[in-house]
Amino acid sequence: MTDADIRVAVIHGPNLNTLGRRPAGHYGTFTLPELEQKIRGWAAERGMRVGFFQTNDEGAFLSHVHGLAGLVDAAIVNPGAWTHYQWSIRDALELLGAPFVEVHISDVEAREPHRKISVVRDIADHAVWGKGPDGYKDALDAIPGLIA
Ligand code: DQA
Repeated sequence: MTDADIRVAVIHGPNLNTLGRRPAGHYGTFTLPELEQKIRGWAAERGMRVGFFQTNDEGAFLSHVHGLAGLVDAAIVNPGAWTHYQWSIRDALELLGAPFVEVHISDVEAREPHRKISVVRDIADHAVWGKGPDGYKDALDAIPGLIA
């Protein structure tokens, strides 16, 4: 498989649609459309195909992940606050059947103690945090090495 054949689903969880209005010290000032434009550009440079999804609805997140099984080669997932407690997200991601990278824009290891907990970290194939938008570029770079 060449990088050009790699189909990547980028999944954003709750409140990530409000980027640009969130505390700038943690999240910068870029909006979600601006972030997705950057990711689209990085993916194009690497010849990868990306699709985007954002939801504030847990059921929609789960159904979306269920529907991706067999249709993508990898995923980049920022589960937002669900990361820290929402076990149903973990159960759905277990069914993805493709490697996924957990990404956080902010430095979750340097914030409140509850943000150090990730219920998906041990099933994620790679994790990136604290790098702002560039974390998504790092995630794209990691993906070819995660695909068997
Ligand atoms: C986040 C970190 C989470 O703790 C927070 O609830 C988010 C975004 C991040 O990208 O840094 O909504 O996942």
